[in-house]
Amino acid sequence: MDTGWTHTTVLLHEAVAALLGPAGPAADSTVPVAPRTFVDATFGRGGHTRLLLSRLGPLDRVIAFDKDPQAVQAAATLQDARFAIRHSDFGALGELPPQSVAGILMDLGVSSPQIDDPSRGFSFRFDGPLDMRMDTTRGQSVAQWLAQAETGQIAEVIRDYGEERFAGAIAKAVVARRQARGPLATTAELAQLVADTVKTREPGQNPATRTFQALRIFINAELEALQTALKASLSVLQPRGSLAVISFHSLEDRIVKQFMATHARTVYDRRAPFAAPAPVLLEGLQRIRPSQAEVAGNPRARSAILRVAQRTEVPA
Ligand SMILES: C[S@@+](CC[C@H](N)C(=O)[O-])C[C@H]1O[C@@H](n2cnc3c(N)ncnc32)[C@H](O)[C@@H]1O
Repeated sequence: MDTGWTHTTVLLHEAVAALLGPAGPAADSTVPVAPRTFVDATFGRGGHTRLLLSRLGPLDRVIAFDKDPQAVQAAATLQDARFAIRHSDFGALGELPPQSVAGILMDLGVSSPQIDDPSRGFSFRFDGPLDMRMDTTRGQSVAQWLAQAETGQIAEVIRDYGEERFAGAIAKAVVARRQARGPLATTAELAQLVADTVKTREPGQNPATRTFQALRIFINAELEALQTALKASLSVLQPRGSLAVISFHSLEDRIVKQFMATHARTVYDRRAPFAAPAPVLLEGLQRIRPSQAEVAGNPRARSAILRVAQRTEVPA
């Protein structure tokens, strides 16, 4: 099913250039290179994949992941023998053979078709069922979770993943409403409850912004999946292979930044001062932001940060 909603790809050229790496062959290069495999861990609507395929040779290939069945369906329109899609969490990229991948891209978070479709329940801008699952074939919706979670759990999620000062008050209001009138069922009900509870509004921001972000991150286990995939990337990347990650908020970016920084320096184990240090596994760290022109044309790019690193020659 094509929903008709589109996604404007963020940092398109920058991310594809990063994937091909500093030593990547030019599109018109006549120098023969061994066939390469790239991973687009977040296919979405395939913006990055399509440009990447246009830059690759006839024997190269792209393996894409997406946990959203609608994204996987959209991928069926991409008829290219060099392309394959997996309906899977990208945490599974560690199942690829060791040192088999020339570049991995993760363009984190949700796609515009997910946000813009009221039936997915991601947005407080539209009324719809309070779902927010990227993978609608499994797991609990936000409504199901909020219907039975304890006040302390709800507060912790909203505080930790939304950095929301009023997390405790919102959690209490959710549980009080559940007891008085039954569980929250729609995005509009949750947005109204938060608006009634949060007294101080950040300028230009809907009071429910932080709560929706927090519940989305939690219900999709987004930060855990990111940690798993980053770790897996170290074993599946070939020496000099590129890791490129686009994040959209500070919780994600902090994880990516710390991961790359940790593996780009020599780490000594203080408890074993005479042991050899862990090898440096990443190098060539870069941080790339969208141009003003891109942000002007696509406000969603505003908070994007692309971080890039290359796998060192040191064997895993
Ligand atoms: C920002 S969009 C990617 C857009 C894509 N680069 C494009 O140009 O069309 C993020 C996509 O990643 C998917 N996604 C997010 N987390 C995921 C995970 N842990 N595993 C697999 N897919 C994930 C979402 O379902 C969404 O389709």
